[in-house]
Amino acid sequence: MSTAPPPYPNPAATALAAITTVSQRMAVRSGRRRRPAGPVERTLQVEVRAVRRPCPDVAVLDLVPITSAPLPGWGPGAHVDVELPSGLLRQYSLCGDPADRSAYRIAVRAVPGGAGSAEVHALTPGARLRLRGPRNAFPLATAPSYLFLAGGIGITPIAPMVRAAHAAGLPWRLVHTGRDLASMPLSGELAALAPDRVVRRPDDGGVPRPEQLLSGVDADAAVYCCGPPPMIEAVRRALPAAQRFHSERFSPPPIRDGRPFTVRIVGGPEVTVPADRSALDAVREIRPEVPYSCRQGFCGTCHVRLVAGTTTIDPTRPDPAGPGRTALCVGRAEGDGVTVDLGR
Ligand code: FES
Repeated sequence: MSTAPPPYPNPAATALAAITTVSQRMAVRSGRRRRPAGPVERTLQVEVRAVRRPCPDVAVLDLVPITSAPLPGWGPGAHVDVELPSGLLRQYSLCGDPADRSAYRIAVRAVPGGAGSAEVHALTPGARLRLRGPRNAFPLATAPSYLFLAGGIGITPIAPMVRAAHAAGLPWRLVHTGRDLASMPLSGELAALAPDRVVRRPDDGGVPRPEQLLSGVDADAAVYCCGPPPMIEAVRRALPAAQRFHSERFSPPPIRDGRPFTVRIVGGPEVTVPADRSALDAVREIRPEVPYSCRQGFCGTCHVRLVAGTTTIDPTRPDPAGPGRTALCVGRAEGDGVTVDLGR
């Protein structure tokens, strides 16, 4: 994959390039594979300045620094790790204006039984939080035009992308799906930019087929999709192989062709990992204190030392934790089992 910056054939593309960062441009050239974002150790102290609820189960929080220093810059698609008061770590996309270094904005849907989202919804102005990041595993690449697809709260990384494409004067279209209009945040505000380019499509008329979502997409458009895994997979399968497609899911990737294996914990018991579950899930049944965040391999929270054995995600993808370590959330033993040191 080339890492040279793409040519910017017109002023609009140049404007978009100013919004995306150099590192993003290097990371995302066209194509279906992207480089995972590495861990960011930078820690930020912020305070909740305001909370609003555009939907009954969605809280939008504005987070401001506790010092006078501006917050680190970011680009569309970036997220932060949020350390919640209980110590839980959760990742949320930044959905505000990247040009505003005085505040970050996140929008969080309350998930039934979700400890992290429940804590976020209990936050009030004045609460202090620690953040790590921002980092970007879903950056916006330059393209002649864009089709943005968002499922439910998947609108959060997409919203700054829409604003960036619009500000750059590039052609774009947004399709936002959801349970019903009352549960679909942010896209109503985006429709104010260009009402004829935003389709808000509640599922009460039936879950849209991928051909409907992709209707009229230009062959050279970049398609950005964030939503539940079935939506992403359906869109991916429906697109021609040459179409530029970028996606971000907000749940763990499906395990394909998994085999059971054993995790021996140094100083602890042996755990059997079933074919359809992750080592993280299996280990947390007996060691629920083992931390995690992204469940997709890239945040580093669940990376631990491998004492014996080797792991990969699958035969074609290495373990993102690197040599001598494993990401419990996605790594699977190459043989019958591995030994890990949970002391990290
Ligand atoms: S939870 Fe993020 S790398 Fe495993």
